[in-house]
Amino acid sequence: MRLSLRFIIPLGLALAAIAYIVVPLVDQFTLKWAVRDLDGRSALVANAIQEPLQEYLRTGSRNKTLAFFNKIIQDERLFGLGFCQSGQAQPIATRTYPNNLGCQDLGHFLNQNEHVLPSPQGPLHISVKPIKGDEANLGLLVLVQDMSFIQHRGEETKRYVFYFFIVLGTIISMITVTIAQLSWRGWTQGMRALLRGEGLVRPIGQIKVPELRPIARDLRTLLRDLEAEFHSRDEGQITWTPEALRAILRGELRGENILVVSNREPYVHAHRDGRIEVQRPTSGLVTALEPIMRACSGTWIAHGSGSADKETVDRHDRVGVPPGKPAYQIRRIWLSPEEEMGYYYGFANEGLWPLCHIAHVPPTFRTSDWQKYIEVNRKFANAVAEETKTKDPIILVQDYHFALLPRMIQDRLPEATIITFWHIPWPNPETFSICPWGPELLDGLLGSSILGFHTQFHCNNFLDTVDRLLEARVDRETFSVSYGGKPTAIKRYPISIEWPPASATPADSSGDRRAMLRKRHGLAPDHALGVGVDRMDYTKGILERFLAVERLLELEPGWIGKFSFIQIAAPTRSSIRRYQDFEKDMRAMADRINGRFGTGNYSPIILKAEYHEPTEIYEYYRAADLCCVTSLHDGMNLVAKEFIASRQDEMGVLILSQFAGASRELPEALIVNPYDIDQCAVALHAALTMPAAEQRDRMRLMRSLVREFNVYRWAGRMLLDAASMRKRGHLRHPSDKRQPQADPG
Ligand code: G6P
Repeated sequence: MRLSLRFIIPLGLALAAIAYIVVPLVDQFTLKWAVRDLDGRSALVANAIQEPLQEYLRTGSRNKTLAFFNKIIQDERLFGLGFCQSGQAQPIATRTYPNNLGCQDLGHFLNQNEHVLPSPQGPLHISVKPIKGDEANLGLLVLVQDMSFIQHRGEETKRYVFYFFIVLGTIISMITVTIAQLSWRGWTQGMRALLRGEGLVRPIGQIKVPELRPIARDLRTLLRDLEAEFHSRDEGQITWTPEALRAILRGELRGENILVVSNREPYVHAHRDGRIEVQRPTSGLVTALEPIMRACSGTWIAHGSGSADKETVDRHDRVGVPPGKPAYQIRRIWLSPEEEMGYYYGFANEGLWPLCHIAHVPPTFRTSDWQKYIEVNRKFANAVAEETKTKDPIILVQDYHFALLPRMIQDRLPEATIITFWHIPWPNPETFSICPWGPELLDGLLGSSILGFHTQFHCNNFLDTVDRLLEARVDRETFSVSYGGKPTAIKRYPISIEWPPASATPADSSGDRRAMLRKRHGLAPDHALGVGVDRMDYTKGILERFLAVERLLELEPGWIGKFSFIQIAAPTRSSIRRYQDFEKDMRAMADRINGRFGTGNYSPIILKAEYHEPTEIYEYYRAADLCCVTSLHDGMNLVAKEFIASRQDEMGVLILSQFAGASRELPEALIVNPYDIDQCAVALHAALTMPAAEQRDRMRLMRSLVREFNVYRWAGRMLLDAASMRKRGHLRHPSDKRQPQADPG
């Protein structure tokens, strides 16, 4: 349609030009040229016959003159000849001489330079030339020429001009169409090249001059800004629920299946008292991802670490979960004790964990652990390839156990969209360079399409580290890195929890819960309670918290006997010496403080160093007056958000470490430096004495934030980004006509 218009318009214009401009001009010019031609010819004939004519006139023979004239007009163009002798009215003229041209009419042609005489046989050209004798004028010679040839010539010329313009119009139309086609293709190619970041590069010999690269970057930035604006507008309008997430998957990602890879599995089958029990591990990662997988289905590939895991899988090592109501699959990977020791306990938890958490525990890096880390990452890469149903799946790689996995997946599945999320902090370049295999880890991570962190600070640290350790193209404007392959977007996605939380049972009133829990611990109904819920990990600031309780009792002895702090500490990584030591330190400190301030039944610190089900933990959250999250360093810390989510009564105070990512989002908490024991003690006192109205105000604000920025939004944002990235990818490679298998809506 557009093409034919581009063709017809120039052609139409050419025809209109012929009709209204060219034809009249051709007529006019042909006539002018012919008249001038005839003039010249008449002058020539007149000169040629002048002498013989004078002779005939001298002899006075009219007949001889006429015979002479008839001879001359045998020339086909010379139509007639006449001679008007001075003083005579009738000319001596050939038969063809026009009747209406008397001698008296000749002045008109002689003086006014007129030449055309209309006649029944068509226009005639009249030329009048005076013939001189020796002394005086003899008369006027009249040359009459036929002008009909001019008309023929004009028509012929018009025909040629017409054909010429038709051909010209056609050529112009074709050129217009071709140029339009080429320029459109060039523009789209240019756009694609611009988006690829290689557009408008002018080659000079072997060298490419990035002459307009800033424009390309501006364009990309503009597109990204528009996209971001669109997303945030979109994001704000969505009510983030499992359905919303499913709608994104169906709409934006055409029903694509999701693969999650993490070390820790969401459901562990373990032998207990002669039967198989299902446990939910204590892990922020699992807490966040489990509801996502329930919403999205797909497959979760994880280490099968439970003692009964092998007994519960099918022949493909898969098991449907949640038990009794399966919504997705776990694909279990079996690790040998050596692999687990080297990869999990060694490289991941003795090396990377302390490296990334600035908790003053020196990291340990062993070559043998590194080898196992590579092997296990490869094992998971194989499993990903086995579980993938399409050539471009969406794979969510989780955490520091799999820094090498994104590159391994990219090598096998170049079209996969790999979203890697680093759940723990990222240190500064100096700290990171302690790791002997830092560049390899970075290379592995840069196989991701998107690499996410909880905070902007960690994104910045990552970019600084890449800048320092690798020869990579780091773009700080767009926050992306190009290193030996596709670019990786570095993005901030603050993780969260599901809302409303599955463990919440809204039916019970918080008053009942407070009383019940206190009664269970032999405490008075008005006994003040603080709670801490952590894995038994040296990064969580549990010792510092105990010291703060001790300091509170020193500073405000009124709380002795009236306030207890319940610490739930789930055993974790207990094969690692540092964790064993930590448990000992923790128990010893609790004992010491209890010994110092405890009396009879009263213990200021109630240590519950065992695994608790999520529903039990919610009981503690609801019964407490305050919750302490005093991590020495933490990616986000979801305990803070779980405590908030559990408080439907809008009461309770959160004391939160400034070194936990959550502090960036929850300024209404009492923010503390966990190393500043006095400050923490003051915060405990402030929390215990905070008026109900203030508690409510703070809690309401925090609850609205967690409600709005729940885990569905966290995952939704990543998936939306992945979807736009895939769209951009298709724009760059339009030849890829692949349609994902499911629901190509
Ligand atoms: C942190 C890590 C998770 C890990 C969790 C529990 O939250 O980021 O990846 O799963 O700790 O640790 P564990 O070693 O028991 O899996």
